[in-house]
Amino acid sequence: MPAYRAALLYFSSDDRLVYESDGLLVTEADHRGVQRVKSIGPWSAVGSAHLEVEHSPGRIIAPGFVDLHIHYPQVDVIASPAEGLLPWLEKYTFVEESRFGDPTHAQEAADFFLDELQRQGVTTALAFCSSHSVSVDALMGQAQSRGLRLVAGKCLMDRHAPEGVRDETERGLLETEALIGRWHGRDRLGYAITPRFVPTSSDAQLAGAGELARLHPDVWVQSHAAENLDEIAWVRQLHPQSRSYLAVYERFGLLRPRSVYAHCIHFDDLDRALMRDLGAAAAVCPSSNLFLGSGFFDHAAADRAGFAYGLASDVGGGTSFSPFHTMLAAYYVARDARGKAGLSLTPGQLWFQHTAGAARAMGLEGVVGNLLPGCEADFVVLNPRATPLLERRTQGADSVDEWLFAMIVLGDDRLVERTVIAGRTAA
Ligand code: GUN
Ligand code: ZN
Repeated sequence: MPAYRAALLYFSSDDRLVYESDGLLVTEADHRGVQRVKSIGPWSAVGSAHLEVEHSPGRIIAPGFVDLHIHYPQVDVIASPAEGLLPWLEKYTFVEESRFGDPTHAQEAADFFLDELQRQGVTTALAFCSSHSVSVDALMGQAQSRGLRLVAGKCLMDRHAPEGVRDETERGLLETEALIGRWHGRDRLGYAITPRFVPTSSDAQLAGAGELARLHPDVWVQSHAAENLDEIAWVRQLHPQSRSYLAVYERFGLLRPRSVYAHCIHFDDLDRALMRDLGAAAAVCPSSNLFLGSGFFDHAAADRAGFAYGLASDVGGGTSFSPFHTMLAAYYVARDARGKAGLSLTPGQLWFQHTAGAARAMGLEGVVGNLLPGCEADFVVLNPRATPLLERRTQGADSVDEWLFAMIVLGDDRLVERTVIAGRTAA
């Protein structure tokens, strides 16, 4: 039974941040051979007799991060400046994604993408592939061989997109069905039905996606909603009868538990109530929203309405794979949305939204994103002295909050000394 002694960071069953300065995490294999947390607590209380304990003094063990929305074919799109979402899609994104019909390119990019996630401490992701089935096979195959918990899907996009990424209505749906059969529930993998966004799917394709979602309630749904004002105006033209952008997804049966919508910026309270009532969740992508000038997610309004959400990189609209960069961007954005009150999110809230909160938004609470007993043993080992400035600032911290803030503000991949996937060191 592998056991790890270090400082521990995790969340109690009522979502409070727990910090244990000298703790012990004990794991054991379940009947399928996946390592899970058996116990966690203070070193002195848990007891270590008969355990093989790995001691990491000065290090912190924390849950692996959950990235609630990321595009694997957009690794080479990061840092492409544009006037806004729609020109960015046309000028860079669709062009790059058209390369993913080539299995060799898709394999190479999938390998790089998963290496990068792991290097940055991300152990679960909800990912868009391109519209080509081979791009899904490449990513899923590699994730499976690494033992990763990953949910991904092929983009459905049968209109308003160029040749090379556009699929055909019926064929896209048939491919989706075949991919569900091939990958969903295999080892730690899951499939997500993935209509790209309202403008690029015909009514027939959205209806077909909704029908698949009804037939497969444990499969995920992922898409984009209410990100950009020009996009919203376009949706209004295409669906003049719809009360809002989000209501289009509702009409086609695409709002339900295990559906995750990226951005959700330009919502009103009726949209927020719809998210809550139908059990849908938002993937909040602050670095992307700042980079593309899309707007600011309203954390306070989301909390008042009570729908689930979590943090996401949205690479390549987002500017970094690093959960620390994303948490810092969320801090900036939440401060702006709260206006003159001046306060933003606490470090505990930011960390929660990128781990246990994001896992809950995906319907994976108690599975990943935390280190309570029963959770799969996906975790990171952090070194708060990884850089001279981090060392200086974390040593000078007067409280756990100050110390966590120092890591959020100054941290990046250098902070992540090790990433452990189901008990095995990955990076
Ligand atoms: N809306 C539709 N496609 C995309 C995409 O690839 N990135 C972002 N940020 N928004 C989108
Ligand atoms: Zn996106």
